[in-house]
Amino acid sequence: MDKVRNPFAPGAGSQPPELAGRDRILDDAKIAVQRVIRGKPTLSQILLGLRGVGKTVLLNKIEQIAEEHGHLTSIIAAPEGVPLPTLIYPRIHQVLHKLSVVEQARISTFNAMRALRGFASVFKVEIGDFALSVDPETGTADSGNIEYDLAELFVKVGEAAKAAGRGWTLLIDEIQYIGDQDYAALIVAIHRVNQKGLPVLFFGAGLPQVAALSGDAKSYAERLFSYRSVGALDQKSAELAIRNPIEEEGEQIELDALHAIVGKTRGYPYFLQEWGYQAWDTADRSPIDVVDVDQSSQKALQRLDDGFFRVRFDRLTPREREYVCAMAKLGDGPYKSGDVAEMMKEPPNKLGPMRASIIKKGMIYSPSYGDIDFTVPLFGEYLVRNWIKASAPGG
Ligand SMILES: Nc1ncnc2c1ncn2[C@@H]1O[C@H](COP(=O)(O)OP(=O)(O)OP(=O)(O)O)[C@@H](O)[C@H]1O
Ligand SMILES: [Mg+2]
Repeated sequence: MDKVRNPFAPGAGSQPPELAGRDRILDDAKIAVQRVIRGKPTLSQILLGLRGVGKTVLLNKIEQIAEEHGHLTSIIAAPEGVPLPTLIYPRIHQVLHKLSVVEQARISTFNAMRALRGFASVFKVEIGDFALSVDPETGTADSGNIEYDLAELFVKVGEAAKAAGRGWTLLIDEIQYIGDQDYAALIVAIHRVNQKGLPVLFFGAGLPQVAALSGDAKSYAERLFSYRSVGALDQKSAELAIRNPIEEEGEQIELDALHAIVGKTRGYPYFLQEWGYQAWDTADRSPIDVVDVDQSSQKALQRLDDGFFRVRFDRLTPREREYVCAMAKLGDGPYKSGDVAEMMKEPPNKLGPMRASIIKKGMIYSPSYGDIDFTVPLFGEYLVRNWIKASAPGG
């Protein structure tokens, strides 16, 4: 069929033609952004899910919703190992810059700018292009204790936003890369603005490995955050994700072809986009039938193996690859660390540091104590397809 009109959008963060099965999350976000601007107690949301389930797409959508409801927004994709002050400084600077033109927010914005300046200097943020012309306000957000200072800074930003009649929504993607201490500080800061009824809201998204929180941050997180798991789409939503975009282009797909796609992808959003894309391109004419789907499967798998899966695999060292292959040889997860060690013929305690390093890379996670599993759906099957059969037949 006409490749130019192919509606599907496989790719990290690509807006899908049909954002299926996420109405609850989006409706809750709509309510939250409106409540917080009215000073009502509001839960921030943390979206947790495996690779390719649509977390980034959801965060982008929530950012749009927040903007539509009068919020200034800051969206950050956390890279590995960058401290939170460095990430957040330019974003807050931007927000304050926008607020500074609002007459009734002049004074509170100026105060927030000064707090930001103090914050930047105590955390040694490279300010470069974002240098501020204000003097720091000594004694505000500059103690050097991030838990304390971030909260003070957020309060100042919240007060400026409130004075302007706006809200501020902070969205952080890949939160698993935020260090535990920074994450705890973020939670304490959200707690503080919440207590004061300031219009500040936080949305996070990341892999389902919950940070090892302790103390105040832990108890606040349980009360302030609603943790939502984002997973594969259910049958109906997965069908919608494929059928609607095709019909919107004025074409059709047969029911058994639709079922075949949902079956092969198990409803995982990234895979749905890839299969939908290849099935469309493979079909000579509408309606797309089950033969088209079968024919396109090879190509869809190949593309995933060369891209989505491969980029993850490439980040591992040779020993780490042995580790994940040992997991895959055990069949479907979750896996017991002890079983993996046995498969590798190593004492379990020797593998602890390697397992930790693979977790840090975001390749595996611990769904519950003593268990591990892949963060990439169907990764075990990828390994079997590409890396195990050849080197260890039948193993
Ligand atoms: N609700 C949905 N319905 C259909 N397709 C979707 C949906 N959500 C996301 N997708 C598609 O899935 C793919 C992956 O989306 P996205 O990059 O947001 O996932 P992610 O969870 O952020 O993945 P990662 O953990 O790798 O960053 C994209 O091609 C996107 O178009
Ligand atoms: Mg993402």
